[in-house]
This record gives sequence, structure tokens and C-alpha cells, in this order.
Amino acid sequence: MSVKGAIFDLDGVVVNTAKFHYMGWKKLADEIGAPFDEVKNEKLKGLSRRDSLLALLGYTPDEKKIDELCEQKNKYYLEFVSRIDRSQILPGALELIEEIHKAKDWKQALASSSKNARTVLKKLDIEKYFDAAVDGTETKKTKPDPELFLKAASRLGLTSDNVVVFEDAESGVRAAKSGGMLVVGVGDRKILHEADLVIKDLSEIDIAGIEKLFREKGKA
Ligand code: BG6
Ligand code: MG
Repeated sequence: MSVKGAIFDLDGVVVNTAKFHYMGWKKLADEIGAPFDEVKNEKLKGLSRRDSLLALLGYTPDEKKIDELCEQKNKYYLEFVSRIDRSQILPGALELIEEIHKAKDWKQALASSSKNARTVLKKLDIEKYFDAAVDGTETKKTKPDPELFLKAASRLGLTSDNVVVFEDAESGVRAAKSGGMLVVGVGDRKILHEADLVIKDLSEIDIAGIEKLFREKGKA
């Protein structure tokens, strides 16, 4: 078998930080009187901070206001994140990442739209498992553009045909698909139905399961 790569989204796939992004946006939305709930939040998942704000507001304020509101949301998010520990790692994530880390024919990367991704990785001491990491400070376009995933694959020295992406966001599933990659949706089947496979969490998959998916999709 040729060398294969796994690319992991961070928030909502590896760590339970998607919850903290939601709480940060909710706190901000309540303060400015903007309607916001978990259904609306689904559309924000995977987007950059700025694009999330614009989607939440439904209009584009001036740049000064955008910066101010983004900064406020990030302050709330960082307050939540300052208290996280390894208990916030999602079911099966550490097991799969450790299995891939030990496997001879596998490499793995972290690919997150978040500018705080490295802070989260450091806090949990899990950066050491990844052969590469790309975050929101290194990309110009936000998901569903494939830029982030293409960068991650290239840092692993692999092509789109040889990687699988794990995503909890609709925008992320689309990004991986438009980059020509296999994608496993992690979460709700109704939201992630465009993925090649949908699982509840990473405890439902291991290397053997991923290799089976590559074979089924004619990419072995
Ligand atoms: C993504 C999250 O990983 O990162 C989004 O799914 C978040 O909810 C985005 O808005 C940007 O994060 P940050 O930390 O740069 O504000
Ligand atoms: Mg996510």
C-alpha cells in the first residue's frame, strides 16, 4: 500500500471546542441583540472568525466594528479554552491519533480554520502526534474552499487521492470534497450527508476501517 494520510479538523472532531465557539458567539449575539441559536450555529462551523461574524449578523458593518466584535468573541472563547484539559478530547480521537502515529504507512495532519488551534494543541499536549499542522493564520480562504486541506496534504508530501479528511462541519465536508479528498463526517448524518462516510465519533473507526473506505471508493 502507498503511504496514506489522515487530516483532522480540530474543533468538534478532536476536541470539544466547537461548544466553546458556540458559547462565545451566543454571548456576543445576546449582547448585541442578534438572534442566534444552535441551528444557525451549524452554518458557522468551519468558517473563519470574520466570516462567522458576518454570517451571524447577516450584514457587513465597517471594518472597525468587525474587528471589535471579532475581538470580543475571541476574548470569550479564550476564557473558555483557558480551562480545558484532556477530558475535553472527544471519544476515540486520542486512540485513532495514537494508532496512526505508530503506523508505518500512515501520516497525519491537523487542519483547522482557527487561529487558536496551536494554543489548543499545546494545552492538550497533542501536537507531538502530528506530522504537520495548518491553522487559520496560514490561509487566505475559508472553508468550503479547499486551501486549508490542500496545504495540509502537501505538507505531508501527499496528493488528494491519498488522504482522508475528518470533519464535523458542512463547510469542511464540502472543502474536502472540492479538494478531491475522501471525507469522513463526524457527527450528524442529516447535516454531513455529502461525506463518503458518516460516523458518530472517532471511536467508530480505526486504520482498518479507513483502509476499507479507500478500497470501497476505488482509491486503495
Ligand atoms: C473553526 C471553528 O475551527 O475555527 C469555527 O469551527 C471558528 O467555529 C473558526 O469560528 C475560527 O476560529 P478562531 O479561533 O480563529 O476564532
Ligand atoms: Mg470543526
